[in-house]
Amino acid sequence: MTVALSLANLVAVALFIYGLHQLNSPPTARAGNQLAMVGMAIALVSSLLQTQGVGWWAILVGVILGGTIGIVAALRVKMTAMPQMVALYNGAGGAAAAAISTLEFFVLASGNGENAVVSVSLVLSAIIGCLSFAGSIIAFLKLQELMTGRPITYPGQQIVNGLILLTILGLAGWFVVTLGTMPVLAFVGLLICALLLGVLFVLPIGGADMPVVISLLNSFTGLAVAVTGFEINSTLLIICGALVGASGTLLTVMMGKAMNRPLTNVLFGAFGSGGGSEPAAGSGGPQQIRSAGADDVAIMLAYASKVIFVPGYGMAVAQAQHSVKALADQLEKRGVQVLYAIHPVAGRMPGHMNVLLAESNVPYEQLLDMEDANPEFSTTDVALVIGANDVTNPAARSVKSSPIYGMPILDVDKAANVIVLKRSMRSGFAGIDNPLYEMPNTSMLFGDAKASVDALTSAVKAL
Ligand code: TAP
Repeated sequence: MTVALSLANLVAVALFIYGLHQLNSPPTARAGNQLAMVGMAIALVSSLLQTQGVGWWAILVGVILGGTIGIVAALRVKMTAMPQMVALYNGAGGAAAAAISTLEFFVLASGNGENAVVSVSLVLSAIIGCLSFAGSIIAFLKLQELMTGRPITYPGQQIVNGLILLTILGLAGWFVVTLGTMPVLAFVGLLICALLLGVLFVLPIGGADMPVVISLLNSFTGLAVAVTGFEINSTLLIICGALVGASGTLLTVMMGKAMNRPLTNVLFGAFGSGGGSEPAAGSGGPQQIRSAGADDVAIMLAYASKVIFVPGYGMAVAQAQHSVKALADQLEKRGVQVLYAIHPVAGRMPGHMNVLLAESNVPYEQLLDMEDANPEFSTTDVALVIGANDVTNPAARSVKSSPIYGMPILDVDKAANVIVLKRSMRSGFAGIDNPLYEMPNTSMLFGDAKASVDALTSAVKAL
């Protein structure tokens, strides 16, 4: 039986790794996800068969309750609310690791202590799990707009955080030296300090940086789960935790690179705390903005030879992806070459635009990554910016004082004509003005992205 269960675990782990690998490319991503689901089902059954001394009914109630909440939430969540859902699930992972460690602590406290490896693992998973749980809850509250999304800062913030961290390290040292037999009150104090640090760590981080922080907290949860594996002697948890930890870390680094922001700047830079939108250099006010009608834009598109669609967060909000595909079909019927330029941090989560466009069956070969898209703009007749803002902001290239200076952007301004679809002159997530809107080759088509794209499709059809 033990050999069979070990083999089952091995199969589960292999499926996780292969499933993750399949996520590398859109055509194989769905199958990768399904393989990982099969792996998870095998891992769950194998873990349950190894469980001893726990009432089966308790496990069953947990599985039914958790499973129902998970299924209902996954079915109901809007694509734009996915980051906060990930934050919530991530917090649950951290809380689970901390809860296991707390239970194990009481087991140790009632005996003669444990060996050093178990003590170190236990205290690490308790600390990291609490930190990840509390930080994820604050991230959820910010993204769900249940509290301000702006960075909350106060004087001496880093010193307070540093002192809490020192207290945690001191208590953790005590825990390890006494092999987990420290007084209960001290252990509870350790948990409270870790929870507090999680809250204080995320409070000064601004809205636009939340996806990066969620990814970092995700890697923390992975780490907490991996050390819990050492604590309760579960190879499965060690490997799964390591996979989550490593992929979360890689994603964090990649997002930081795409925004040209070092992680220290994301964590301690309080980005966006300046309040209000910051006018970009050269901004001459709304009088320089040109507004266009759908009919004029439709003529421009219909008689173009190359058009690049640049989707952003607004396309996701408007759920305009199917309309965008319909417009592309109309243009292609007329012999117009249509491409899509995808910025790595367009939208609110990695791959956001790819997922939406895949949903509306846009051929993968038409999706260009930023590096491949940028050389195309200078030979493009129309760049149609659909609810994207920050990722097209030329201030990132030239305005040294801009908070997004240095962030690689999509060079839409190099196209012969730029048409921007958005509802108003409001700024994007970074809260700054976009000088693109005042350039002589730019016109604005105001309105909800879906309504505007539908109007363009009808107008092109009518030509
Ligand atoms: P944003 O800069 O946030 O701009 C989105 C624009 O869409 C807004 O200016 C908004 O203008 C418009 N909009 C909203 N709803 C709309 C609707 N229904 N119809 C038409 N337009 C609508 O988006 P982006 O260019 O995709 O940039 C993403 C931002 O998120 C960047 O700042 C990036 O650094 C940040 N971020 C992303 C990630 C990932 S992984 N994606 C990670 C970290 C940070 P109106 O209100 O005027 O309509």
